[in-house]
Amino acid sequence: MKFSITTTSSTEVKVNWLVAGISENDEFSPSLQRLDEALGGSLSRMREREDLTGKAGEISILGDAPGLEADRLLIVGLGPAEKQSLQELRKAYSTAIRKIATKEKQSLGLCTPEVIVTALGEPVALEFLSDTVTVSCSGQGLYQDEKSRYPFKEVLITEIEANKENKAAVRRGVILGEAVNLTRELVNRHPDDIYPDTFAQRAADEAADLGIRGEIFDEEMLKDEKMGAMLAVSQGSERPPRMVVLKYNGGGKEAPTLGLVGKGVTFDSGGLSLKTSAGMITMKSDMAGAATVLGAVLAIAKLKLPVNVVGYMGLVENMTGGAAYKLGSVLTARNGKTIEIHNTDAEGRLVLADALAFAVDDKVDKLVDLATLTGACVIALGNDIVGAFSNDQPWCDSVLKSAREQGEDIWQMPMYDYFAEQLKSEFADCKNIGSRWGGAITAAKFLEQFVGETPWVHLDIAGPSYVESSSAQRDAGGTGVMVRALVRLAEANL
Ligand code: BES
Ligand code: MN
Ligand code: ZN
Repeated sequence: MKFSITTTSSTEVKVNWLVAGISENDEFSPSLQRLDEALGGSLSRMREREDLTGKAGEISILGDAPGLEADRLLIVGLGPAEKQSLQELRKAYSTAIRKIATKEKQSLGLCTPEVIVTALGEPVALEFLSDTVTVSCSGQGLYQDEKSRYPFKEVLITEIEANKENKAAVRRGVILGEAVNLTRELVNRHPDDIYPDTFAQRAADEAADLGIRGEIFDEEMLKDEKMGAMLAVSQGSERPPRMVVLKYNGGGKEAPTLGLVGKGVTFDSGGLSLKTSAGMITMKSDMAGAATVLGAVLAIAKLKLPVNVVGYMGLVENMTGGAAYKLGSVLTARNGKTIEIHNTDAEGRLVLADALAFAVDDKVDKLVDLATLTGACVIALGNDIVGAFSNDQPWCDSVLKSAREQGEDIWQMPMYDYFAEQLKSEFADCKNIGSRWGGAITAAKFLEQFVGETPWVHLDIAGPSYVESSSAQRDAGGTGVMVRALVRLAEANL
């Protein structure tokens, strides 16, 4: 897609579609007033008849309007001014773009939303638009003959100065959107397409294109590294495990290093503690943490941010083969801790235990892990909110702030020590599950044993990383949640 910025008036751009936003119960914004004038006051009359209310997600289309060079004008409702968070605006614009990105080779004109410009400035508004368009016209057509979404041939952002800062903002938005799309794609690929080896190959290829140092650890190397917990999880699978480590060094020797660790269970059958069919159907998405880390590291490198970031992706398949690890098995994790298995479906924490310990040994300064870790977190926070757990409040505050600045919903959960007591084992240093209640917290307390003193935030993305059915505003499948937040974190807070 070709994006450009132009000072040309919205009424004068020759495009197939012109898109503008409208607030509820408010005066027309200056750009809407200009459109209204060119249309001989028809927008005012529509509003009087209550055909153009500005309610969030409302779509009005005017074809062949005299006074406009565009073939069609689409006006999307942005809701009441006081509720226009980045989240709500993204939903509204996604709904609009998804509606028209259904044909090939179209051109699009976009009126820059004044609400965002006023609140956050021109660059952020431009970044938002190019990001949202990039994500909204990439559909779930991987395995479908008939695609439902197409990229635009050309996107023109109107009534804006094409200065250096604004051009960079558009480029940044496209990079973020493409990173989100990569994460979505990997999550959406079926489990016999993306498994540890193919995920690792894809990560290595993408990294090589950008000149990032990447290393793939195969089974032998993982044994040499004493990654006994993640190796045990992979025992029941025909597909050997992998760990990918990507190192981006943009900050030089003196700068601190951010470690991003991702759970990459390419399919989670539950192992011998087998899931039901209903519980298993979405489990190709259990590698979303690793896919998020990959998307974020690649975006950070493309943006040439002056920071050091290392991505660690622990890749296994959790299956029930003859050699599968068992209930009662005792594993030795990389840091020497022994773990008694009480449920083979609590496998993500085992993969993360070794990957986190590896990152700590690598001497990263700050850690964030991302994982589709527990159903309990979805029970606690619902489908749209990321759960955050931490051993260091200032570092957690930085992560929360970065997510909120990018319009990603997140909520911090408590880490009381008595949850760790549930993990005591009669036969090993700990066991891998606690009681049913507060399961997202016991999982986090389990992970805490493997990060030592390193400031660490665990992000449970089991709910928001995947949607089971499509809606007006987004496709079913991977969402790319937290990719933007991680990029923001890398540039803002180390
Ligand atoms: N991958 C699942 C968690 C999950 C559930 C992700 C639903 C997305 C949607 C994880 O490996 C798992 O199975 N967790 C168990 C833990 C339990 C056995 C302590 C769970 O949540 O039931
Ligand atoms: Mn599981
Ligand atoms: Zn899992």
